[in-house]
Amino acid sequence: MLSKKMAKALNAQFNFEIYSGYIYAAMSSWFKSKNLNGFANWMNVQMREEFDHASMFYAYMHDCGSDVFYDAVPKPKSTWRDSGDVFKDALSHERKVTSNINNLVDLAIEEHDHATNARMQWFVSEQVEEEANALGVIQQIDLSKGSPDALMLLDRELGQRMYTPVGQGE
Ligand code: FEO
Repeated sequence: MLSKKMAKALNAQFNFEIYSGYIYAAMSSWFKSKNLNGFANWMNVQMREEFDHASMFYAYMHDCGSDVFYDAVPKPKSTWRDSGDVFKDALSHERKVTSNINNLVDLAIEEHDHATNARMQWFVSEQVEEEANALGVIQQIDLSKGSPDALMLLDRELGQRMYTPVGQGE
């Protein structure tokens, strides 16, 4: 059973994961409008992963006997200067998610809520990967600066990213 405070905090993160999905959906659409379809694919996969993260919070809360409440989703940003600008926003968003997850772990420890702490550890590891992924693309974009050919090659590479459901059965 979750404390009221923990249920509220988990519910907030459930909604934040949905918001994350919206942000990546908007980023995907921006790339699509620039005909950078590989970048758009990468963001689309990211969006789906975020909705999986939300589902994991949903499942965990219901398993603990807590209801889940849907908030209004804030309007995401829809225009950026260039590809690097988009991924810098993505990285900064992921750092915010990491901070949220760390706060949830802190609360779980404070409340001696071992089950929630254990569940959050999956997200702790996932966030290392999430930040590394965004940072990796920023570095590749930086390397391709000034070379449209290099950017098109990167677009092709990002087009290879495949969606595989995350967190299933974990
Ligand atoms: Fe659900 Fe990208 O963190």
